[in-house]
Amino acid sequence: MRILLGVTGCIAAYKSCEVLRELQRAGAEVQVVMTASAAEFVGPQTFAALTGQPVGTALFGDAVDPIPHIRLAESCDALLIAPCTANVLAKLACGIADDLLTSTALACTAPVVVAPAMNVHMYENAATQGNIAVLKRRGIHVLDPDSGYLACGDVGPGKLPAPHDIAAAVLAVLDGGARPLAGRKVVITSGPTVEPIDAVRFVSNHSSGKMGAALAAASLTAGAQVTVVSGPVSTAYPQEARVVVVGTAEEMLRAAVGEADDADAIICAAAVADYRPAEAREGKLKKGADDAALEAVRMVRNPDILRTLAEQRRRGQVIVGFAAETSDLADAAQRKLASKGADMIVANEVGGGRGFGADESRALIATSGGIEEMSLMPKAELAERIVDRICALLPETS
Ligand code: CTP
Repeated sequence: MRILLGVTGCIAAYKSCEVLRELQRAGAEVQVVMTASAAEFVGPQTFAALTGQPVGTALFGDAVDPIPHIRLAESCDALLIAPCTANVLAKLACGIADDLLTSTALACTAPVVVAPAMNVHMYENAATQGNIAVLKRRGIHVLDPDSGYLACGDVGPGKLPAPHDIAAAVLAVLDGGARPLAGRKVVITSGPTVEPIDAVRFVSNHSSGKMGAALAAASLTAGAQVTVVSGPVSTAYPQEARVVVVGTAEEMLRAAVGEADDADAIICAAAVADYRPAEAREGKLKKGADDAALEAVRMVRNPDILRTLAEQRRRGQVIVGFAAETSDLADAAQRKLASKGADMIVANEVGGGRGFGADESRALIATSGGIEEMSLMPKAELAERIVDRICALLPETS
């Protein structure tokens, strides 16, 4: 087991020596890459002595290895960056590769674990939180910092977790302990549906697909094979997910049913248009000449995809629905749990800037076991919680 340890410029850099020791005690071969700022806190010589290997500090100037970032990226089973500063988090989120560590991270296809450590206000800053959400969506394992008395005198989250906990998180990622959905398939419906009125007009809604993308990332991180059946969105789904793009609710239903057979869990996060124009006119209806047709577009009910999938469910399949509501979340969730035949309903607030298109969501999760209220949190975190609850509902594999 070869672990590449990236150390960045933070007062907690000295704790990386203990993280390194913990990994070695667990049998890992560790090599270290440092940023220039990290070397202001701990000398490369310290890590060279602890690892018995040269420490990577620069992209250029190595006479033996002219492209060190590619060799380092290819030769590790996991990349751990501990501590990771706000600056390096931002670079990772943007794909900036301006030194050996960030270039290696960009080239790395092995699992990446990041342990942020910084001042509480830097950690809580919307920029940092946004960067963390981006990284999580990409399947990078971002550890929560510990809370407490920080080097700068502030108190709050921002402390590097205990070396033992960091090492345990990396080992869990490597041995599959944190991949409870390994060998499972998750199907996610996501985004809006688009119901044509004529060649240029349609009925749709504001769904952005962000929740579906967060669920895809959380399912992938948990080890699942993921298919997203999505209406048209500009949100990017994780690269490892298979994405089937559809337009109308009827197309979404056909695609979802086609994917459902071998699925272990189905999450219906799509905002399906409940009604569609009874007929989609071929050409473009014209103002004036077609006023009567435009003023009286007759709407008919779309199929209920969630209910259909629940009716056709395979034994042991877990089915999750959403309920986008402007009020009475708990009532609506319980009602939809029964009427849709789902195992779980995640009810979230929409309207007033919440829900569609937002990066955060306040939700509650209803199952037959009761209702669990969540605080306002990034969609990436809500997605992780939902995936955790799905894991708990899935029957053991034989
Ligand atoms: N859903 C679906 N197919 C539909 C309508 C909804 O699969 N035709 C799914 C959504 O993906 C979501 C859940 O059903 O998981 C609830 O969607 P929502 O729009 O909140 O509820 P509706 O069934 O439309 O009920 P209402 O209009 O009364 O809120």
